[in-house]
Amino acid sequence: MAYENELFQEHVVRVERPSKHFTLLRAPNGEFLGASDDDELAVFDYVDDKAIWDSVEGGTAYRHVVTGFVLEAEAADSTEGCYLRHKRGRLASDGAAAADGGAIFSPGHGPAHLPSEYLKSLKENGWVCLPAILSPDTVEALEQISCTGRWDSETYDRSTGTLVKGVAVAQAATEPVSLWLMRQYMRTSEIRFGHPPGFAILTPDDGERDVQGWHSDFPYHWGIFATRGTGPEIPPHNFPELVMGVQRNLCVSEFRKENGATCFKLGSHVLGEGPPDEWGPGHIYRQQGYRAAHGLPYNGPDADVVEAPGGSYILYDSRIWHRAGVNRTERKRAAMLQAVIPVYIVPKTDTSRAYRNFINSPLVDALTPLELQELKALMITKIESAGQKHVVTIDETLSEMVG
Ligand SMILES: [Fe+2]
Repeated sequence: MAYENELFQEHVVRVERPSKHFTLLRAPNGEFLGASDDDELAVFDYVDDKAIWDSVEGGTAYRHVVTGFVLEAEAADSTEGCYLRHKRGRLASDGAAAADGGAIFSPGHGPAHLPSEYLKSLKENGWVCLPAILSPDTVEALEQISCTGRWDSETYDRSTGTLVKGVAVAQAATEPVSLWLMRQYMRTSEIRFGHPPGFAILTPDDGERDVQGWHSDFPYHWGIFATRGTGPEIPPHNFPELVMGVQRNLCVSEFRKENGATCFKLGSHVLGEGPPDEWGPGHIYRQQGYRAAHGLPYNGPDADVVEAPGGSYILYDSRIWHRAGVNRTERKRAAMLQAVIPVYIVPKTDTSRAYRNFINSPLVDALTPLELQELKALMITKIESAGQKHVVTIDETLSEMVG
């Protein structure tokens, strides 16, 4: 038996599939209808509690969750959505009373809980799960792209970038509630990707292959280097409130202990250093054949496994110790990984070319203007040169010159 000496006794934190979701009402430019502080309707380029609606009366009306006022939906001759009617008549695209025929708003899949509740949990615990935050259609598109679910027998092609494989990748990457949460948690609206979004597809385990050891994610990288200070890591420190990275992992597949859901040491982000050698950190498990000879990294009851339905985002402080689980099922499980950092941290890999490839592809037309604006902010950094703003990107000639 390959697992005879293994415990698999991690504490399971199970996040159930929600029975209902709120609705987001998108204006034609992709911004979100909400109520401003003075109770006026307006559109916003982010989603917090003021942009959360409940579909009521069989989907013919939307109730603002915080204030309770109700908008009537009025059918439009469009597949894009409906007109919305407040007491003064139809709404225009900016949420004000329309002077003309009004704008068409798109009601769409929203979070199961209020963004403020998720933020409270993220601040208290250093992690939060947004269960099934993506619509079932988007999840299915991502299963197809990642060759999981109904497409399990197909093989993922790594020869092209992730973003150009389908618009669902960019739609997932610009999911607004998780973006708002990360901006709040890192205390800056200026956040970006540390690398282009990528899939981690865990195939069934064979009982001996090399596995990932315990570590903290980019940019901390604690547990990755055998000797402190020998690699690009953030020095151990004890400033819990200074957050230099949030990992946003999308469970494309349902995450369960058996299929290799991520193992965490929840709460470890406040410790200011990486996992101990007894837990089997990344730098030890990086040695070829180590797992076959020594078994798996720590998988006892002091660790935690977060189980979540497909389409869930798990956000965690990048300092939290974790490792990929072991897939003891017959089917692959996929996650879409995104290291997200404040713009004052240098990204791990270039994101500019992946963005350029995306905007040169026909997929760009399927995004709303707001989604494209967010993707650009996440993937493009500009700096000044000769009084002009220029995109930071790869200089291949210079790279060859300096080696
Ligand atoms: Fe990781």
